[in-house]
Amino acid sequence: MDKLVIEGGFPLYGEISISGAKNAALPLMAATLLSSGTHTLHNVPDLRDTRTMNKLLESFGVMRKESDNGTLRLNADNIKNLEASYDLVKTMRASVLVLGPLLARFKKARVSLPGGCAIGARPINFHLQALKQMGATLTLTDGYVEAEVTDRLIGTTVYFDIPSVTGTENILMAASLAKGTTVIKNAAREPEIENLIQMLKSMGAKIEGVGTDKLTIHGVDQLQAAENTIIPDRIEAGTYLIAVGATGGNITLNNCNPSHLPSLLDKLRVAGLEIEEGDNYIKAASNGSIRNIDIKTLPYPGFPTDLQAQIMALMTLTNGLSVIHETIFENRFMHVAELVRMGADIKVDGRSAIVKGRGELNGTRVMATDLRASASLVVAALAAKGVTHISRIYHLERGYDNLAAKLTNLGAKIQQMKE
Ligand code: EPZ
Repeated sequence: MDKLVIEGGFPLYGEISISGAKNAALPLMAATLLSSGTHTLHNVPDLRDTRTMNKLLESFGVMRKESDNGTLRLNADNIKNLEASYDLVKTMRASVLVLGPLLARFKKARVSLPGGCAIGARPINFHLQALKQMGATLTLTDGYVEAEVTDRLIGTTVYFDIPSVTGTENILMAASLAKGTTVIKNAAREPEIENLIQMLKSMGAKIEGVGTDKLTIHGVDQLQAAENTIIPDRIEAGTYLIAVGATGGNITLNNCNPSHLPSLLDKLRVAGLEIEEGDNYIKAASNGSIRNIDIKTLPYPGFPTDLQAQIMALMTLTNGLSVIHETIFENRFMHVAELVRMGADIKVDGRSAIVKGRGELNGTRVMATDLRASASLVVAALAAKGVTHISRIYHLERGYDNLAAKLTNLGAKIQQMKE
């Protein structure tokens, strides 16, 4: 197993390029199951999770051709297996995104339930309830969802209690081939969902309400293969912006979309960063002295929960008090204990954390617990006095493309080595 060793205290300078978004690549790769023919996807990030999705698709019989510039060709002409095994699903919850497409096109699917997760219970009841309303028969056997539909899924109106991201994506894909019209109320509005809708429409789907919380999908009999591009990763971009706030410096992020980060850019400006937004770049400068701000995570366009841990690390470096409310997941403070090991003063009370900034952190040995918690430890280590050893970085590799190399390009003292 690998670890990261980071010597802190070096400001970040220079330019890097942001990769394609993990949380767009996964649903767009799953959507290739909806049609025959060869799909082309550009700007696919090279991550542990996209490799897992490739393995899952291949286990169904999808043919894959990959080129080293992030272009992926996927062909779902010869699907022979309709089961998503526990061994694959347990390593990546987003595997549930194959349920809608398999059921819609092949009338049948057997998908392992994802099981527990470090950041919360994360049930998929909204996905299952909506598919049931669309006429699917669902049985839970041996930890698997067995889904079946006699003729076709039927369009209907579904309402999500919470605007679930993968829930919206699963039902969007299922409804694209359903009989009649489906309306999703209280749908999620993340940019990754717009990217999926763009792809579905390029395949011939009929969808209205893009960017709103009410999506209307008029089902069609068949979809065609198409060529699409994955949007830039706003969470990866946000992580580097928060990092330069922590270390000081001046960086340019290319191949990213500032309009996908409205709340973060606003918060970082209030915290004292100078931010310049271009069409496909963001420049950020900081003298390292950061003002304390309060954060409340919310569905898009609110502050992303996937940047909560990273901005908490930044708030430990201020000289004031910050309150951070996590409204999306019930257990997303696993990084707190590790930041406290680095000298931070953080008190957790239910879904709120009170951060008393001490203006500095100290390097030590810490452990990653989930993807974004590990990113917050990297931000903390880059600013800390001395050297930090971060173990279990396989979590990071799930969602960050070439993180150590990109940080080295920005002048960070970082090494990846065997434990
Ligand atoms: C997506 O997860 C992202 N993953 C997550 O990113 C992200 O944190 C999350 O959305 C919120 O933005 C992918 O896109 C692959 P939800 P998802 O369904 O879809 C509850 C990362 O770090 N809920 O929007 O699984 C759920 O428990 C990952 O990249 C139900 O109760 O999240 C949560 O409290 C982590 N029943 C809330 O809704 C359901 O059926 C929002 O979850 C579905 C969700």
